[in-house]
Amino acid sequence: MNNIPMVDIQLWHKTLQSELEEKAISVLRSGRFIMGEEVEAFEKEAANYLGARHAISCANGTDALILALHAAGIGPGDEVLTTGFTFFATAEAILRVGAKPVLVDIDSQTFNIDPVELERSITSHCKAVIVVHLFGLPAPMDAIRAVCDRHALLILEDCAQSFGAAYGSRKTGCHGLLGAFSFFPSKNLGGFGDGGLVITQDHQTAETIQMLRNHGSNYQYHHECTGYNSRLDAIQAAMLRVKLKYIDQFNNQRRQVAQWYGEYLQKSEVICPIDTPEHVYHQYTVVLPARRDTIKKKLANKGIASAIYYPMPLNKQKALSSTEEDYELPVCEQLSEHCLSLPIFPGMTEEQVKQVADALIAAM
Ligand SMILES: Cc1ncc(COP(=O)(O)O)c(C=O)c1O
Repeated sequence: MNNIPMVDIQLWHKTLQSELEEKAISVLRSGRFIMGEEVEAFEKEAANYLGARHAISCANGTDALILALHAAGIGPGDEVLTTGFTFFATAEAILRVGAKPVLVDIDSQTFNIDPVELERSITSHCKAVIVVHLFGLPAPMDAIRAVCDRHALLILEDCAQSFGAAYGSRKTGCHGLLGAFSFFPSKNLGGFGDGGLVITQDHQTAETIQMLRNHGSNYQYHHECTGYNSRLDAIQAAMLRVKLKYIDQFNNQRRQVAQWYGEYLQKSEVICPIDTPEHVYHQYTVVLPARRDTIKKKLANKGIASAIYYPMPLNKQKALSSTEEDYELPVCEQLSEHCLSLPIFPGMTEEQVKQVADALIAAM
């Protein structure tokens, strides 16, 4: 039996190998490496695929969040609500623009922000919410929008893990003022290095982001404001253009893997993720009744990778401990002790899924 990694990027790229290599060589020979035609074409194609009027690429997903917050006018004195169960970058972006994160507890079935808790957590300084579609499962946008409308809060979406997922008839990223994406290599749409994207339907906001990502400049050596150096490389854009053509296929392969896991784990004590066609399964994260560390070790002994996303909710992170109040986020805390993410990637076979599921059941 072969080892099973969390993500087998080489296998995933195998079917596209010659297309990717041809494109890479053409960029290397073009002499144009930052921004340029490939980047513009990728932005158009991504906007078109996502159903957004504007797509502005940048250097990574963290910058996408920072640019989105900055363009939305969030800064010192403001508070931004977000989930307590996400990658640190979501809260880090809020801190980076000088605002304060207000952490909200999650729904135990979806790992996403709980709309009831969201409304309960609003303070007089709250200006916006960053909704994270964690693990590729869209958050309940209707209920979230209702809360935001009642309290005049802007909606920003962190779609780092949900490229291609839809809520209702619209893709994630198109439900608020701004959507932010990451192209970290293991993401559903991943590059060959770092990359990010901001989308919006609003023309003025798009222009602001375009300026901010390039040193606050729209016109060479004329600077309207202090911005960032956050541009996408041509080689990343070229690679992402190839992979974007196959994103639905890749996401469907992830859904197939999730379906197999659901079948093989059906009679076990493991709680599987929600099964909905909207999910793009960036991660396949189960909840274990107990003994997670032992189970994880037993899987590793059989050559099966697993990961803990996330071992510590944001309210327990040292970097956020300067905020005065002590948050109680019981669901975040409970799930951070019991969750385990299993291998999932396009091209993973039913035999591999069965091997992981059998090993997991045997380890319990
Ligand atoms: C939910 C979430 N937000 C933001 C980011 C940041 O993206 P990047 O690593 O491209 O900066 C990530 C990346 O892992 C993420 O998972």
